[in-house]
Amino acid sequence: MNSARRRLPQMDTKAELRTARLVLRRWRPADRAPFATLNADPAVMEYFPALLSRAESDSAVGRIEAHFAKHGFGLWAVEIPGVAPFAGFIGLSIPSFQAHFTPAVEIGWRLAHDQWGKGYATEGACAVLAFGFEELKLDEIVSFATAANLPSRRVMERIGMSHSPADDFDHPGLPEGHPLRRHVLYRIRRRPEQPCHTAGQGSAE
Ligand SMILES: CC(C)(COP(=O)(O)OP(=O)(O)OC[C@H]1O[C@@H](n2cnc3c(N)ncnc32)[C@H](O)[C@@H]1OP(=O)(O)O)[C@@H](O)C(=O)NCCC(=O)NCCS
Repeated sequence: MNSARRRLPQMDTKAELRTARLVLRRWRPADRAPFATLNADPAVMEYFPALLSRAESDSAVGRIEAHFAKHGFGLWAVEIPGVAPFAGFIGLSIPSFQAHFTPAVEIGWRLAHDQWGKGYATEGACAVLAFGFEELKLDEIVSFATAANLPSRRVMERIGMSHSPADDFDHPGLPEGHPLRRHVLYRIRRRPEQPCHTAGQGSAE
């Protein structure tokens, strides 16, 4: 483990990130119902062990809010002005499990099915990477997914992350033999230029 990754950031920010088409903002009570709908959609949850009940979905929001309270950043709620007041989340989180790459800061995303195929995840993720490197001064950001989750892996690749098979790991939250257990890890390190560009690249506000 290198020293940069041992020092995880603690900051008090209420940052809202904006891109050409998206607002990544803190969660509102009204987001809970559409988030529960998304978490009960088999298409969205194809690469997760189970659909979430309303109570489980609300608990997940609670954990996201607690992460914001503790670290000052997290999985932002995605608003698409003029299109959808809530479309899912894109953001940063600190994995709560231990693995060969932890402690680390992870970039992740989950969007409602009707918002796929429009470049929103990549656009939001680009702004999140820029925030992580420029504002949080992270040296590295990781992302992981079950190996078969090709849509998520394509987002990782589009934002410039790299995968080394030597980093593949078994997710400790899934039992031996579970078909989703094998995960791929992608990494990206801070570099002098912007980490990625999309038509909608915006800036942290
Ligand atoms: C992962 C997930 C966010 C990816 O969504 P996505 O729509 O494929 O990704 P993007 O929003 O970046 O959109 C990219 C697609 O939109 C297309 N697109 C259309 N208009 C576009 C535009 N204006 N700009 C960029 N891309 C555009 C791209 O060609 C690309 O399509 P392709 O993958 O078929 O080539 C989505 O599948 C999801 O929410 N999955 C469920 C949750 C999940 O698995 N999360 C990850 C857990 S590890």
